[in-house]
Amino acid sequence: ATTLPYPQTAVAKAQSLPQNKVVHFNYPDESSPCVVIRMGHPVPGGVGPNMDIVAYSTLCTHMGCPVSYDPASRDFKCPCHFSVFDSEKMGQMVTGQATENLPKIRLEYDTSTDSVTAVGVDGLIFGRQANIL
Ligand code: FES
Repeated sequence: ATTLPYPQTAVAKAQSLPQNKVVHFNYPDESSPCVVIRMGHPVPGGVGPNMDIVAYSTLCTHMGCPVSYDPASRDFKCPCHFSVFDSEKMGQMVTGQATENLPKIRLEYDTSTDSVTAVGVDGLIFGRQANIL
């Protein structure tokens, strides 16, 4: 894997995150919209006191439309051509036109400060040749 100089960006305090609702942030730069979600139970790739906090790019990997989170199904849905990505399975594509999973933001959790920090991206953000411009 290529090592890119990812920034370390404070995302939220774990305790402050609402359960099963998105909180928006940008990473690794201002032109890359992302969301963080506290799922409420441990999920693969989750961080935090309950291993339940995950974050993703919200640009669909098919053609870059903004996906939206459906709290009922806990999926991300793309309005353009109906791709669906699973928030509880590392952004795995479930159905649709996309061929790549939703890029997952790598998070770290600091117990002493309750801070969730973005430290990298797994997967290529739509429209980029590299995640770091
Ligand atoms: Fe999302 Fe086509 S842009 S499915």
